Amino acid sequence: MPTAPLPQFPAGFRWGVSTSAYQIEGAVGADGRGPSIWDTFAHSPGRIADGSSGDVACDHYQRHREDVALLAGLGVTAYRFSVAWGRIQPGGTGPAHPRGLDFYDRLVDDLLAHDIDPVATLYHWDLPQPLEDAGGWLARDTAARFAAYADLVAARLGDRVKLWITLNEPFVQMSLGYGTGAHAPGRTLLFDAFPVAHHQLLGHGLAVAALRARSGSPVAIANNYSPVRALGGTDADRSAAAAYEALHNRLFTDPLLGRGYPEGTVGDPSVVRDEDLAVIAAPIDVLGVNYYNPTGVRAPQEGSPLPFELAPLDGYPRTAFDWPVAPDGLHELLGWLHRTYGDALPPVEITESGCAYDDVPDADGRVHDPERVAYLDGHLRAVRAALDDGVDVRGYFVWSLLDNWEWAEGFTKRFGLVHVDYATQARTPKSSYAWLRDAIAAARRKP
Ligand code: NOJ
Repeated sequence: MPTAPLPQFPAGFRWGVSTSAYQIEGAVGADGRGPSIWDTFAHSPGRIADGSSGDVACDHYQRHREDVALLAGLGVTAYRFSVAWGRIQPGGTGPAHPRGLDFYDRLVDDLLAHDIDPVATLYHWDLPQPLEDAGGWLARDTAARFAAYADLVAARLGDRVKLWITLNEPFVQMSLGYGTGAHAPGRTLLFDAFPVAHHQLLGHGLAVAALRARSGSPVAIANNYSPVRALGGTDADRSAAAAYEALHNRLFTDPLLGRGYPEGTVGDPSVVRDEDLAVIAAPIDVLGVNYYNPTGVRAPQEGSPLPFELAPLDGYPRTAFDWPVAPDGLHELLGWLHRTYGDALPPVEITESGCAYDDVPDADGRVHDPERVAYLDGHLRAVRAALDDGVDVRGYFVWSLLDNWEWAEGFTKRFGLVHVDYATQARTPKSSYAWLRDAIAAARRKP
């Protein structure tokens, strides 16, 4: 257990935790909600490790007041949640469903009553199924549909949400959702999934305009990044690493920050219309950074269809997901963003950072997770080191408040500061919750 107090953070630094709708809400049939691609995918045999779905998840839709009380007890200054598109527009188009908006309205008011900034993500992978049936993110029209939905949410919540996040991890939506099929909607287009990148980015740009028209609050996108390390040291290894970096770290950032697509990443050029790049590069106020681990890359074997090969990084402890615990990677990543984008880089907030462990209650019902405490301590120190290097980092959100439904892994991976017993829905704060509460309190007491 780390015992040394954390170093000081700037006044006004945002301390938060993140969740997403399908992973916690449950209540999939309540109040007129329409089905999303994840409802369909989770109910397709063989897709989810434990055969579960998000039908009930953490029952947050019913228990949101209890969950906001947990946030208040933690002392966070911000809470990042996502809005389920299908609660607002059950079919993905048309007028807003008032009962869907009412839920988020109550949540936002409850957060504000506890002095917690509501940070709303508009799209955390739960595309309404009817839009998928019309082509999903392969269809250009989905970008316009997304902006129309953003407009409806902002019309209702725009006076109270303190930070908007348009899309969550569009790279993962493209690569796992439409590339390999490990996520919904389960398409296997590999590199032909490029239109999914472009249409999400276009949707983001159009949504930025819609949000600006309805709300004075800052706007961001949350991208996932992984610092890329070339293993092997040959020129071929280095160019493989550069190819992976372009795909994973730059495809969704270069165009956002006005540089157009990185060389070699545009699959079908006819998908990109001349006027699109200006829409995509609409200024954002914050870049959301989701960070989990660095990636080792080497040159591909002869005959491989890929321009790179991913390889394990040795020398790190590992989470239950087998991901390396590498706070140095967060420091490295923030330095990379700062050097690569220079003055074009907006202030950064770490919109996700966290780890899964097999946490189980002990005989007294307490949940000890010293690995998560070490993880958070290390990653917060990495943020502090990046601040010292001059990177403008404004906040850190832990993934996640609660153990929740981890997509294709079902309930088998626990990321929460709070343990959830899925049979009873009992919430038990883990020792990491107490550690973070004390760390935030100490940080906020400082001048
Ligand atoms: C990123 C995603 O945004 C989130 O939904 C997921 O649970 C975490 N990573 C952990 O895999």
